[in-house]
Amino acid sequence: MSLTAEQISKNWDDLLQIVDDHITGERKDQLKKLYTDHQERIMMAPASPKSWYHSAFPGGYVDHVLRVTKCALANHQLWLQMGSPWAGDVFTVEELVFAALNHDLGKIGYDSPNSEYYLPNDSQWHIDKLGQLFKYNPTIANMKVPERSLFILQGRGIHVTENEYLAIRLHDGLYDDSNKYYFMSGARESRLRTNLPLILHHADHMASQIEYEMWDIKHPIEVGSKPKGKSFKPKNASKADKTIRNAKAMNTENNPKLAASTKSAINDFFKD
Ligand SMILES: [Fe+2]
Repeated sequence: MSLTAEQISKNWDDLLQIVDDHITGERKDQLKKLYTDHQERIMMAPASPKSWYHSAFPGGYVDHVLRVTKCALANHQLWLQMGSPWAGDVFTVEELVFAALNHDLGKIGYDSPNSEYYLPNDSQWHIDKLGQLFKYNPTIANMKVPERSLFILQGRGIHVTENEYLAIRLHDGLYDDSNKYYFMSGARESRLRTNLPLILHHADHMASQIEYEMWDIKHPIEVGSKPKGKSFKPKNASKADKTIRNAKAMNTENNPKLAASTKSAINDFFKD
């Protein structure tokens, strides 16, 4: 999957528009300056290094951030509809959007020139055999993405609230073992006091999964391919064939009727 130059450019405009619409005070200009100082890098960054992760293509980072922000706003509405008392006034929509916009900021690398986090892979073997389209910049110190996101923000003096800090820090949920400290508390007093980290984690998980599916549908696993030197007969070939056929039928590009009905359901859901 790839984006056209027009899509990349529109995504960039949408990113800045969300800052304009949702971020207030001094932070609005600070965030826009941070983004525009690294405009080309941010516009062209992938969201992950491997083809089969998610949005591993130029423009993938912004595309992912926009999807996470939309998913976070939609998830927040769902929590409210389901009666979550905490989703009402324990955090603000600005905090939700700020955390979503910046959860993966660490993927831009250092806040300085020529220090991208992802570089195009110069090993054709790794690209062909492992799908590693990008490699990590070896000149950048090792740091978890959520922590680098917060590090970049503090480096610019951009104020981060406690709710935003925890949401960005914990957005990988229990995929990061070190987050057990927060999510698997042994005492009531040490439980999280806002569900913002969960809402952002679910949004990030949802967006990443959808992006993987968008890639997967165009790159089906070859069922029944024969590894060299071995006799290979897949046990579940017919079942896998059926799964892939079903997935293709669900692909909105192949099924405009489904796409229209899905779009209208989403529009109905969000209209006032
Ligand atoms: Fe993410």
